[in-house]
Amino acid sequence: RTAYVNGRYVAHGDAHVHIEDRGFQFADGVYEVVSVVDGVFADEDGHLARLSRSLNELELPWPMHPMSLRFVMREVARRNRVRNGLVYVQITRGQAPRDFRFPVDPAPTLVVTCRSTKFSAPQQLEKGVSVITIPDIRWARRDIKSVALLPQVLGKQRAAEAGAFEAWQVDPDGTVTEGCSSNAWIVTNEGVLVTRAASTRILNGITRLSLLAEAEAAGIPFEERAFTVEEAYAAREALISSASTFCVPVTRIDGKPVGDGVPGPLGRRLRQAYLAHVG
Ligand code: PDD
Repeated sequence: RTAYVNGRYVAHGDAHVHIEDRGFQFADGVYEVVSVVDGVFADEDGHLARLSRSLNELELPWPMHPMSLRFVMREVARRNRVRNGLVYVQITRGQAPRDFRFPVDPAPTLVVTCRSTKFSAPQQLEKGVSVITIPDIRWARRDIKSVALLPQVLGKQRAAEAGAFEAWQVDPDGTVTEGCSSNAWIVTNEGVLVTRAASTRILNGITRLSLLAEAEAAGIPFEERAFTVEEAYAAREALISSASTFCVPVTRIDGKPVGDGVPGPLGRRLRQAYLAHVG
């Protein structure tokens, strides 16, 4: 396997960043995950636009021209012979003696890796997945795709221990923000697709944006608004979306079946529309 680290393609096992990299010491960096579907980089423009925004919010410079990054992503996929998989891009403020303040001459660290994956096991699509709900203990700028992911690490671990696929994080007012690595959706009993509006409370998923565009094009009624856990328990369907899952049906929330406990038609329709759009 091959990784890209600061200008070099290196064997995965020999790929290193320095112990005083600010990503390691402060989680001072951002990332993106882009899916490769039959050799096509899904929603690449959207992911690069969000990366640009994340960098900007942290006052981080682009480590290279975005066009060059597109090339590196392709080269890493090619060298790893990935036709279906995930590309991971991480940019940190680079190596500097430990000091909270920005270094005067930052040289950002850029890492790109890629691995093959099978997107969503057939069983997940046929039976749906379970989610649990947990308090959202993250910071107030969840719109930045930062590598500071400790709350999500703890949340995903709790989900795994409960036999669930994802944990939906819940704000103090009882509304669901999003999953630990996905956006959260429900379909109301009136057939309206609902997902939280973009704000600093959530990461504005690129897959989320594409699914909303698909819903719009297909004439599926949707609302961008917060929903409570109670509303989710009573929903007809529920879904999660992300670059790594596209759109997967949720059939249990905190152990309670969603609707009749099997994946519903709207989720299936959206997934097919998404795959047709990226392919
Ligand atoms: N996570 N919300 C959070 C908190 C996320 O971490 C992600 C993505 C999403 C979905 O965004 P998108 O549709 O752009 O992938 C929402 C990636 C996949 C990860 O951390 O692995």
